[in-house]
Amino acid sequence: MTLLSLRWLRLALPCVLVAGFASAEPQTLIFSHVVSENTPKGKMALMFKSMIERRMGDQFQIEIYPNTELMDDDEAVVAIAEGRIHFAAPSLSKFEAYTGQLMVYDLPFLFANMEAVERFQNSPTGLNLLTHMQSDGILGLGYLHNGLKQLTANRDFTRPDDLAGLRFRTMTSEVLQKQFELLDAEAVPMAFGRVYQALADNEIQGQENTWSNIYSQAFYEHQPFMMQSNHGVLDYMVITNTDFWNSLTAEQRQEFRFAMEMSVKYGNAVALAKNQNDRAAIASMSGVTLHEPTLQQLVQWQNAMKPLWQEYEPQIGADVIEAALDANQTPD
Ligand code: LMR
Repeated sequence: MTLLSLRWLRLALPCVLVAGFASAEPQTLIFSHVVSENTPKGKMALMFKSMIERRMGDQFQIEIYPNTELMDDDEAVVAIAEGRIHFAAPSLSKFEAYTGQLMVYDLPFLFANMEAVERFQNSPTGLNLLTHMQSDGILGLGYLHNGLKQLTANRDFTRPDDLAGLRFRTMTSEVLQKQFELLDAEAVPMAFGRVYQALADNEIQGQENTWSNIYSQAFYEHQPFMMQSNHGVLDYMVITNTDFWNSLTAEQRQEFRFAMEMSVKYGNAVALAKNQNDRAAIASMSGVTLHEPTLQQLVQWQNAMKPLWQEYEPQIGADVIEAALDANQTPD
């Protein structure tokens, strides 16, 4: 039996999620994610593990599976809902099967910058979205930043119609797929763990992601043309299973919340630094041409993609879009 199937066997065991019963052995909690450890999410997960084990190691041990070792994000969302794993931090684009409202994060050019994203996430509307999927078994414990997405391709582009005919990888989000269809490109929804090889095999010719993901996954090896488009946000929701959470004591929940808040703060600081450093590292690569669009060019991209705001308003809710736009205003 392989190591992986042994892990699966353990995941499938009944009662694995029930906390709070008297046991000499600490309970093993599973945290699954798809990025490498040297990323904002990877580092956040490690910090979370270390805080929980330092403060409650006699009760809980956390096993982290990075790099899609255990499952991809779409599977992780289902596994959380079904109570087969305990923690995950999928991108906000991966909850479409459970709620339309989170699609707000996929609307292109909605948020002016990451400060606006942060303000929206801390607003009553943003916080409310964390608890929206509770009845499906998914509880959001908090948001974690990665950053703004950039466009990359295997041929030069500056205008929206330059991408026509290319196959672009997207996350499994209808909004993101439509975004490329509006440009007459072909959207190819694909799990993150497959993207590098699909680029290498020319199965896809372009993709969108943050600087930290483009760098840590070495997408630049097959994407010599990039544009600093900042056209969308890639942030995460740290989620747990509702029944698992409710089975904890108030004291345990407080400890988990504290560890989560601290590790998210740390992860956000890593995200800020990494996206700056990784952008600089990519920009200095001799094989990469990084285009910084003029204001006029950006307006062309915005005009091409913005029809999605209206198209998805019924699913997202006009009030949610309004609250996101309000967050673009800098407070006095
Ligand atoms: C993606 O699929 O591109 C991202 O969700 C990967 C990640 O978790 O940052």
